[in-house]
Amino acid sequence: MSLKVAIVGASGKVGTHLVKQLKADSQHFATPLALVRTAEQVEHWKKVAGIDATLTSIETATVPEITAAIKGYDAVVFAAGAGGKGVERIFTVDLDGCLKVAEACEAAGISRFVLVSAIMAEKREFWWDIPGLREYYIAKRSADREVRCTKLDYTIIQPGWLTDDASTGKFVKASDAERVFAQSREIARADVALFIKEALLHPKEAGRKTIPLINGSEPVAQFLSEL
Ligand SMILES: NC(=O)c1ccc[n+]([C@@H]2O[C@H](COP(=O)([O-])OP(=O)(O)OC[C@H]3O[C@@H](n4cnc5c(N)ncnc54)[C@H](OP(=O)(O)O)[C@@H]3O)[C@@H](O)[C@H]2O)c1
Repeated sequence: MSLKVAIVGASGKVGTHLVKQLKADSQHFATPLALVRTAEQVEHWKKVAGIDATLTSIETATVPEITAAIKGYDAVVFAAGAGGKGVERIFTVDLDGCLKVAEACEAAGISRFVLVSAIMAEKREFWWDIPGLREYYIAKRSADREVRCTKLDYTIIQPGWLTDDASTGKFVKASDAERVFAQSREIARADVALFIKEALLHPKEAGRKTIPLINGSEPVAQFLSEL
């Protein structure tokens, strides 16, 4: 098996970890495709990192344009985000950008779709009164809900607070994550990427599931087997 994966948000911190991890595992993954939004990023990914890249901003591209960019790939990962750059971009990237990519997957006949959302997205009582997070979480929750209504074989990953710590490869059991989150909230971006890779390799375990992710003590194989 050599899975062809297109990554939206490849230039981001999670996306960069993911590109490296997929590229390092040539036994399971073909050269990934980065969907990025500047010509410099295209140049970087093609010439410096040696992967495929296309100039496709999910805000300005139409669904047919995104469809054309991802056509022929086996799976699409959405790891993009507005990164706190205003409410308008939360709507155009985290919400509508995600939905445009999901529509493009359907149009391109790609069923596997992995979305990076955020932990506790379903829990309005958690985020409603957190300054600066309400609009972000409205977008994340709405995107998750729309994706769940599609026929896509989705995996919605809901990480806790992201860090740049080294990978541990270990997670809190998914069914315990929201309870544990009251005391321990962090997940390394490298481990989010590691789990995206595992989810791509194990669609039976991870498909059509919403999975909260924080660092804990379970190795990834055990974590996956308990989903
Ligand atoms: N921060 C947290 O604690 C936290 C917690 C849970 C979930 N998350 C979510 O985790 C995800 C990944 O986080 P991260 O730290 O890797 O984020 P990041 O470093 O900010 O990366 C986001 C990427 O999205 C890209 N992007 C933005 N607009 C785009 C567009 N129009 N077209 C194509 N790409 C676009 C950005 O491109 P540029 O590089 O060109 O700007 C960037 O590369 C995000 O969805 C975030 O909301 C974050």
